[in-house]
Amino acid sequence: MLGAHSLKAVGATHRLLAGCAVNASVLRTDKAYADLVAGQSSILVAENAMKWHVLHPAHETYDFDQADAIVAFAESKRIKVRGHNLCWHRSIPQWVTSLAAGQGRDVLTEHIEHVAGRYAGRMHSWDVVNEAIQIKDGRPDGLRLSPWLSLAGSDYIEVAFNAARTADPQALLCYNEYGLEPETEDGRRKRQATLMLLHRLKTRGVPVDAVGIQSHLTAGNTTEFGPGLMSFLREMRMMDLQVFLTELDVNDRRLPADVVTRDAAVAETYGRYLDMVLAEPAVTVMLTWGITDKYCWLNKEGARPDGQTERALPFDADYRAKGAFAAIRSSMERRVVPARRP
Ligand code: G3I
Repeated sequence: MLGAHSLKAVGATHRLLAGCAVNASVLRTDKAYADLVAGQSSILVAENAMKWHVLHPAHETYDFDQADAIVAFAESKRIKVRGHNLCWHRSIPQWVTSLAAGQGRDVLTEHIEHVAGRYAGRMHSWDVVNEAIQIKDGRPDGLRLSPWLSLAGSDYIEVAFNAARTADPQALLCYNEYGLEPETEDGRRKRQATLMLLHRLKTRGVPVDAVGIQSHLTAGNTTEFGPGLMSFLREMRMMDLQVFLTELDVNDRRLPADVVTRDAAVAETYGRYLDMVLAEPAVTVMLTWGITDKYCWLNKEGARPDGQTERALPFDADYRAKGAFAAIRSSMERRVVPARRP
């Protein structure tokens, strides 16, 4: 699975950066994990190390230890780095949520300038704002009732993107979202609200370069993705936005315990999804949300009812490639590379 047959190598000949989310402490302590990441990745993202609660635990305190370690690892292996994320309704430290309404605007700007400024010129891209749409919150614009709405104002998304561009003019600035994939009414409404948000931002000259499709999929769910997503990706291209597949994984919680059955269904889902979305020329990045089942968020958020370890990622807990790895690589190999950059 290394060398010419790695996801990194296949991606290089199919106009795709390929990689995964990484855990800083495991990178430091588990050489097999670090070697697997390095062997497969042309890009990586910090799963948690660059979130507010880790980086900025108190107003006057920043802790870049984990983030610096990930950036140093990536640069030592000539791997590009994505930052995740500069503004999110989760992982906000208590000292921020206890600020008075409006006080958050300067705090948000300072955080972004300090964090994105620290890595200026070294980042492929940043997830500047994460998951800002929540239809069921009932706002006409579909915006989530995020703490940032009251803390930093209804234009907090614009504030965040402008601060990020000022801090690091070289980084691609991305709006990252989940739930855009499903061929359902909820999926359609979320795609529509996201499209309207991006149109508003672009119309106002806000610097947005890419949209992140998180791609958290479920094996055995037949409405998981379809033509609605492809229409949305074409709209992104028409808006001159790149498309990043930012958090790809396939949970198997609906499947029976049998490992062979689960692995086959997960691999089939990866293959069917990537065969579909990689046909879109605007897709330039694909990251799985982790690389081995040994370290997978799904065993904490949304675990299997039978308590078995999820088998959602390309490599198993012993770092052996599964059918999912072969399915991902085959889809990448089948990609017809667009004649020109999207
Ligand atoms: O590091 C602490 C540890 O010291 C402590 O003992 C332990 C017990 O609470 O918590 C540990 O931190 C946890 C962290 O993951 C590292 O494992 C946090 O509680 C936990 O909330 C955090 O969960 C992460 C979650 O985002 C929330 O930040 C998941 O690992 C991560 O996979 C998940 O990723 C998100 C993306 O950022 C955005 N898209 C959705 C995706 C899945 O929820």
